[in-house]
Amino acid sequence: GVSPEIIEACKELNMTNDQLKQYMDSLLDNIQKGLKKETNATAIVKCFPTFVQDIPDGTEKGQFLALDLGGSNFRVLYIELGGQDVQKFQIFVIPDNVRVGSGDKLFDFIAEALANYANELGVADKNLPLGFTFSFPLKQVGLEVGLLERWTKGFDCPDTVGKDVVELLKNAIAKRGDVQIKIAAVLNDTTGTLLAAAYKYPDTKIGLILGTGTNACYIEKQSEAELFDEPDRGSGKNGGAFGDDGALDFVRTDYDKDVDANSLNPGKQLHEKMISGMYLGELVRLATERFTKEGKMFGGQASNDLSTRGKFETRYVSEIEWDPPGDFTNVKKVCEKLGLSQATEEDYLNLKYICSCFSRRAAHLVSAGLATIINKMGEKTLSVGIDGTLYRLHPQVKRLMEGKIKELVDPGIQVKLVLSEDGSGKGAAMVAAVAAKNDT
Ligand code: BG6
Ligand code: GLC
Repeated sequence: GVSPEIIEACKELNMTNDQLKQYMDSLLDNIQKGLKKETNATAIVKCFPTFVQDIPDGTEKGQFLALDLGGSNFRVLYIELGGQDVQKFQIFVIPDNVRVGSGDKLFDFIAEALANYANELGVADKNLPLGFTFSFPLKQVGLEVGLLERWTKGFDCPDTVGKDVVELLKNAIAKRGDVQIKIAAVLNDTTGTLLAAAYKYPDTKIGLILGTGTNACYIEKQSEAELFDEPDRGSGKNGGAFGDDGALDFVRTDYDKDVDANSLNPGKQLHEKMISGMYLGELVRLATERFTKEGKMFGGQASNDLSTRGKFETRYVSEIEWDPPGDFTNVKKVCEKLGLSQATEEDYLNLKYICSCFSRRAAHLVSAGLATIINKMGEKTLSVGIDGTLYRLHPQVKRLMEGKIKELVDPGIQVKLVLSEDGSGKGAAMVAAVAAKNDT
């Protein structure tokens, strides 16, 4: 079985409901500050309005382009709504020196990808409406105006902070002159996720991303959303930033502090860093490396890869947890990949246990975040549209979330978790469609 000393060492990763409730109180307080005009500027959880006022009703029609920046893939998409829905996309790999560096370089890269794909599809001269899914904290001041608050998730182009990313994209496109596009809307991936899910499940009121990063958006009453002066129902939040004022310190471990200190944005997005795909594998690696050095695993012999930042990919966590009890196929492969060929069956069990402790903590934290919003909304039944690689690939996260949400929401509330297929494609096209409708 799993070694008692590993179980002991992982105890701090088990959050009790009391701890989760303390977390919820503090998150609610943060959301309330984020919603209010006078406190938003200093609030940690920003609650940016989305400027999306209508949930799609299925009558949206036309051809659209979309950009999806900020998830595990940068994509350019072509979508047709109405009749047979058509969707095509191309993935472009963003080189490291474009992801981090000057804004011009990044936006030129995006514009080039867009122009190339639009030309390949023969739609470059059609002036199609485009929905720009931009999955970073953005202070929206309109449906097509968004000021960059800061970069997250390994992107860092400091000269663009505070600027309107739609303007930056427009300029980069204009400079090329080989593609005619009308940027109709900029949106967060959580917003696209909410809309795409609502198209299929009309009682969807929350969009959640559990991927490279984590964040949520929900439908808020106008009376609560002070930052939005028009009759509106949409509100987003920068939930990943929760904890940046110390609110999570009571549960942060040495591993969490290490991940943060070695990130591009230390002190920021502390909630996200305990949960999402960009960090989960590294958390597991840090714990495993420590236990190995303490002689609790792998005969006390850490390999080079086990001691190297970033070498334990988050998908390994999912793969290892997919092994049925008593089967070590995936965990063995991962150990071999990491150069830990001396691993014994006990090591396999220990490693899988460590993975499951971090995944469970992530699932519980996300559930507490969702439960906070759900209790605040006061709806009796609702669906949550969810996307992101961690949610899609992990064998236990959905089940863990369903169980924990039930424990944490107010009595009588029914919550359904639904997979939202391609929010940044369909969702972005829908926002663009609604914008185009209102434009004519
Ligand atoms: C994708 C969406 O499916 O999920 C993106 O199209 C989103 O917009 C992404 O950002 C989140 O997941 P990940 O794991 O790719 O960050
Ligand atoms: C990060 C981004 C946020 C996004 C989330 C999920 O937290 O800051 O905008 O929604 O990742 O991709």
